[in-house]
Amino acid sequence: MHITQGSARIVQTARSGADTVHMVLEAPWLQQALPGQFIMLRIYAGTAPLLRRPISLCAVTPSGIELLIKIRGSGTERMAGWPVGHAVDIIGPLGNGFAPPPPGTPAVLVAGGIGIAPLICLARWLKDNRPDCSVRILFGARTAADCDALVPFIPASCALQIATEDGSRGTQGSVTDLLAYKPAVCPDALFYGCGPMPMLKSLARLACDTSHACFISLEAHMACGVGACLGCTVPAYTPQGPSQVRVCADGPVFEARRIFPAP
Ligand SMILES: Cc1cc2nc3c(=O)[nH]c(=O)nc-3n(C[C@H](O)[C@H](O)[C@H](O)COP(=O)(O)OP(=O)(O)OC[C@H]3O[C@@H](n4cnc5c(N)ncnc54)[C@H](O)[C@@H]3O)c2cc1C
Ligand code: FES
Repeated sequence: MHITQGSARIVQTARSGADTVHMVLEAPWLQQALPGQFIMLRIYAGTAPLLRRPISLCAVTPSGIELLIKIRGSGTERMAGWPVGHAVDIIGPLGNGFAPPPPGTPAVLVAGGIGIAPLICLARWLKDNRPDCSVRILFGARTAADCDALVPFIPASCALQIATEDGSRGTQGSVTDLLAYKPAVCPDALFYGCGPMPMLKSLARLACDTSHACFISLEAHMACGVGACLGCTVPAYTPQGPSQVRVCADGPVFEARRIFPAP
């Protein structure tokens, strides 16, 4: 699909919890975008902040897209202040999407924090396009408050298990503990992950140990978003040896073993 620069009008924007925004944008030109792809949003017509910010698609509908944005710094703070009717300058859809599971294959989606956004998109896509694939979501957050800001956007059709670091919601511990303690996952289930790097590393290790195929979506600081500046490269591994990949253009979705090879 062609990368396009276009305008998207905000039709709904609302805080969820203290530092998360759910935004609905009218952008029918993005209706072919796939789960796992992202967009680059222009923050300001002037120079500060100069760079666009990457945000994953959390839903793709015939009329547009939905985003879940965690406020971190000046760019996301500005996004949070955009009113209904604001026209956002977007480049997208960018990157590759998640490879869907073969028909009938269960999917286990493992998310840490705002990493749930692209996996919600995948869960919604699977519900509409692969109704024969069961979807289980394992979601980890720091606290109950962080968890409650994001859980309402998870499709009710998915089996959901929650872990929080402080034990204030669900099981106490990290989200990958939910997999480690419950190995009764169908042997041909596909794992999909998005979240902080240490979480993705332990997911990759678990997938490797249990011989499950695993796809992970990476985050990196990005400048161009289209593969030109090499600002988002991370180390990767091929059978021929170490290499570098661009998260924006070669990813953001990678086979987990390409980023975290078997020990
Ligand atoms: C492919 C991709 C998809 C993404 N999808 C989403 C999404 O769906 N929702 C969402 O909320 N965010 C998402 N992000 C992260 C988002 O792009 C950053 O949070 C945002 O660019 C921060 O901009 P800022 O100007 O608010 O913060 P900055 O002023 O740039 O940074 C503020 C602080 O946050 C830290 N920071 C910046 N980016 C990240 C990051 N990715 N992880 C951890 N810390 C960071 C900085 O180091 C700094 O300390 C995605 C990133 C990528 C690469
Ligand atoms: S952000 Fe420029 S190459 Fe990825």
